[in-house]
This record gives sequence, structure tokens and C-alpha cells, in this order.
Amino acid sequence: MSTALIILAAGKGTRMESDLPKVMHELGGAPLFTHAWTHGRALEPTRTVIVAGHGAELVEKAARDIDPEVTVVVQEEQLGTGHAVLQARAALEGVEGDAVVLYGDTPFTGEETLARLVEARKTADVVVLGFEAADPGRYGRLVMEGNRLARIVEFKDASDEERTISLCNSGVVCADAATLMELLDGVNNDNAAGEYYLPDVVAVANARGLTATAVTCDEGETLGINTRMELVEAERIFQIRARHQAMEDGALLQAPDTVHFSADTVIGRDAVVEPNVVFAPGVTVESGARIRAFSHLEDCHVSKDAIVGPYARLRPGTELANGAKIGNFVEIKNAQIGEGAKVNHLSYVGDATVGEAANLGAGTITCNYDGVMKHRTTIGARAFIGSDTMLVAPVTVGDEAMTTTGAVITKDVPAGAMAIARAEQVNKPGLAVKFFARLRALKAKKGK
Ligand code: UD1
Ligand code: MG
Repeated sequence: MSTALIILAAGKGTRMESDLPKVMHELGGAPLFTHAWTHGRALEPTRTVIVAGHGAELVEKAARDIDPEVTVVVQEEQLGTGHAVLQARAALEGVEGDAVVLYGDTPFTGEETLARLVEARKTADVVVLGFEAADPGRYGRLVMEGNRLARIVEFKDASDEERTISLCNSGVVCADAATLMELLDGVNNDNAAGEYYLPDVVAVANARGLTATAVTCDEGETLGINTRMELVEAERIFQIRARHQAMEDGALLQAPDTVHFSADTVIGRDAVVEPNVVFAPGVTVESGARIRAFSHLEDCHVSKDAIVGPYARLRPGTELANGAKIGNFVEIKNAQIGEGAKVNHLSYVGDATVGEAANLGAGTITCNYDGVMKHRTTIGARAFIGSDTMLVAPVTVGDEAMTTTGAVITKDVPAGAMAIARAEQVNKPGLAVKFFARLRALKAKKGK
């Protein structure tokens, strides 16, 4: 049996007080709606439909970056969760099997819970994910009759007695895709909010002689985000989970509370992460690598046994080969650093290729930008770049070549050559002493 995913992501998120649609706010460096999608992917869906509305272009672009095949439909007017699901009807045409509806603003519903939800479909036509709420507040309430779910009543429409029910609706629903659409045809907007409620499919199913039931999960998995305070609280939870996961996978975080992860960070076994490290999106670190304190990494790859930092910045497009060393106050961008190559102190290496075992001295700069265009620098294997060398790109330094300290390299350096490119030194005997004596005399005169 195949499964389809429907992710509701059309809402504005008024309480975020933002120009950005709620589901585009970031959690773990990734748009909020992608988290539910990530968990849903464990069901191996044959089709995924994202229902966008507010900021639909932004949502669509973010979705396509993840999966070019995904279907994004637009709900022009937000007439309720039931209406939102109906927008996926055409896109689900021909799907044989279940549809699972997830909310784009609810990031923590886990894979195991979703598996139980789908499994429960063996016992009922409609399965809803519920939870025992510590404070049921304004959640929809599940009206159970034994194991059967009779209906879901929204807080706004509930009687005082119904409001005492603590078993609440998470919003997640699973039913046969075609059946779900037929049930939604039977849902009206005759309620306190004047909306088409997705949870009303339960009552319609029962009225049509179908069955409904609920499976439950921990309340923490149903946490929805509506405000910035809730977003940062979710970020805190996300970070705790990511740190635990990294250590379960065999990495050592010396001070886990100070390491910041992204949703897609991958850290290999026996990698060591020292305190105060930020993994922005797109980072993979292979086993045995060491990321030293106060380093910031983004969209880059660190191979086995490489050492980064302390105080290093790896920007997008950085690739460190095995055993490469990037030291303090070094910035690398869009550059491949060869096996065992070293850039240990105070350097900028951008738009460059550095050969294996090359050594870049302190203060080496690739001058990659002429104010209009970016140019590449190529440094050969085992080349030695003297401290404070300016490499004015485009430029190539050959294998085993050398540049002298303080060189400004504007022409290619052949393999094995030494490039000397600096003003020649002139010594004036006694001039320093005379010079300072003159300055002091000048100051004494002025001081009167
Ligand atoms: C919904 C449920 C409620 C449940 C609660 C759990 C309904 C009617 N009520 O209420 O039973 O306890 O979630 O958090 O479903 N959306 C659209 N298009 C729309 C309306 C909503 O895409 O027209 C999206 C929203 O962006 C959001 C999700 O659906 O991601 C839920 O909508 P929301 O308005 O938050 O529903 P609640 O009132 O919280
Ligand atoms: Mg909500």
C-alpha cells in the first residue's frame, strides 16, 4: 500500500507579527514546514502535496529546493483545515492508499508515532492522532465512545461538558486518500468559526457507517508554533535533540549545550566538537575530524581527521580533504583544500584550489574580487606560500613552488620556482636614532 502526504502550510501566522509566512520561519536553520515533511518521509510517501497560501511562492521555492518532484498547490483563501486538504484532491488523483495530513507548523510529530497512526488504519477507516493535554486550552476535543472516536468538537463549538475532555486533537489524520476527499465533501462550515473543519470528517465518517479511532502520542510531539516565543522554545528542544542524536551517532560534543546544529548537520563517529561551535545549514563532518572551539561552519564538507579552528570560519563551498588543517582566524570560502594542506593563521582563502600538503603562511590572502568579478586562485601540491602573501587572482602557483614573505603575486608562478615580489630592503645607518631625536625636539618646542 502506498501513502501520500499532505502538509498544510497556507496559514499566515498572524501572531508571529511577521512579513514572512509562519511556515517559512526557521527551526534548526530549515523552514518550519520542512520538519513535518522530514518525519513524514519515513512513511516513504509515493506523493507529497504541500498546501501553500500566504507567501506561496516562497514556500514553493523552499519545497522545490528539497524535492523538485513535490507538488505544491495554492489555497487562495484560507477557509479552514478541511478546505485546505480539499485543495490536494486533483494532485492525489489516482493515489491508491492512505493519505496522512500533517501541519506545517507542527515540527515534532515523530516517525514512530506516524508509523503507529498508519498501522491503526487496519482497525478503522479514519485515524486521528490525539494527546492528553496538560492544559487543553483551545484545542479540539476528541469525543470517544470506548475505542471508537465519535467526533471532534472544536473548543469554540464545545459545550461546557465537552470542554472538560482532556484528550485533544493534534490535527494529524490518516484515511484512504479517496475516502478522505469524499468525507470532506460532506463537511460544511456551519460552526462558530465559519470554517470547513478537517476534524469534522470523523463525524461524517460515523454518519456514513465508517469507523474512526484515535492513537495517542506524547504532548511534546504535537507542539505547534504560533508565536516567536514558541519558535525559540521549539528551537531549544530541537537543539537538545540534535545534540543527543549526534552523540548517539558517535560524535563527542565536549560542551553540548554550547553547540548549535542545523536540521541537516551530519557529524561522523569519533569526530570531536569543542565548545561554542555553530553548524549552519549544509555541513557534513567525517569521522575523526576535530572542530575546535568558537568555529562557524556553513554549507561545507570536512573530511576525515581534518582539524578546524579554534576561531575558524568555513563558508559555503569549502571542502577540506583528509587531514587538512585550518587554524585560528582563517576564513575559507568556495575552496578545495587538499589532503594534509595547512592554512593555520589569519588568512582568507576564497575561490581557490589548494593542492595536497601545501602550506599557506600566516596572513595569506587570495585577492579574489576586483570590485566587479570573482577570480580563482590555484595553488599546487606541496607549494609553500610565504607569510603575508597577496595572491591577486586569477593566478596559479605551481606544484612545489614558493612565494617569499610579503609577496604580491600578480603573475603565475611555475612549478618549483620561487617568486620574489616585494620592494628591496635598504638600510640607512643611524637614521632611526636621528629621526626620533628630531621628532622629540619638535614635540618639546610645541609643548611650550
Ligand atoms: C486545529 C484543529 C484543532 C486542533 C489544533 C491542533 C481544526 C478545525 N482544528 O486548530 O482541532 O486541536 O489544530 O493544533 O482543524 N491551515 C491551512 N489553511 C486553512 C487553515 C489552516 O493551511 O485554511 C493550516 C495552518 O496554516 C496550520 C494548520 O492548518 O498549519 C492548522 O490550522 P490552525 O488555524 O492553526 O488550526 P487550529 O485553530 O489550531
Ligand atoms: Mg494552530
